[in-house]
Amino acid sequence: MSDPTLTSIAHRYPGKWDHHYVAAKLRTDPLYPAVLSELKNSTHPLLDLGCGLGLLALFLRAHGHQNPILGLDYDPRKIQTALHVSQTETHLHFQHHDARQGLPPHLGDVTILDILQFFTPAQQEKLLLEAAARTAPGAKLIIRSGLRDPSLRFKITVAGDLLAKCTLWMKAAPTHYPTAEDFTRLLTPFGTVKISPLWGKTPFNNHLITLTKPNPPTPT
Ligand SMILES: C[S@@+](CC[C@H](N)C(=O)[O-])C[C@H]1O[C@@H](n2cnc3c(N)ncnc32)[C@H](O)[C@@H]1O
Repeated sequence: MSDPTLTSIAHRYPGKWDHHYVAAKLRTDPLYPAVLSELKNSTHPLLDLGCGLGLLALFLRAHGHQNPILGLDYDPRKIQTALHVSQTETHLHFQHHDARQGLPPHLGDVTILDILQFFTPAQQEKLLLEAAARTAPGAKLIIRSGLRDPSLRFKITVAGDLLAKCTLWMKAAPTHYPTAEDFTRLLTPFGTVKISPLWGKTPFNNHLITLTKPNPPTPT
């Protein structure tokens, strides 16, 4: 990502804390370029669950992704900020919504980035199945999650999420981290599942999990 693009996104965020967080996140975390790459040929609307400050949406728009985007988050402050920074964008919407209460109707791509750790195992399973049901044929469900395994990276991931709660950056402490096998078991019935490391310059045990739904067979 070029520095001017990075700087222009960070400058949209008014508060000092948000501004520095966004600038550092864009500089060090490979998450948004990875999602952009996954969505590059998509013509589908996107549902972004736990959208936070709306950073993914702004990043996608800054890189030419013009499909409609709906971001949902249960933190009203973050939704207010996302609405504020996206005022000039079209087909970009943010709503206050707790994903544990079910998901709105949608058929397209779906993202779940760095939020599963706040859900219990049963809530994670429900959310993943609901998200997979809203992923259109030929579209993708894109997830980033820390994976529970014996690595030092996993221990650092838990410590980082606890710190985010202590500093009040996150409303909740982490509850449960899924394993790679959880994703394979739950999502393989819907299509092709790929799991790969995605931690960039961070010390966390983050992985990108993608479900690609098959296109229906073309009639002969
Ligand atoms: C680590 S942040 C990730 C933000 C965003 N996905 C990103 O990658 O830029 C986790 C987000 O999940 C949101 N969240 C946690 N539990 C949620 C829930 N039950 N429903 C909706 N959002 C939730 C938090 O408010 C927070 O904004």
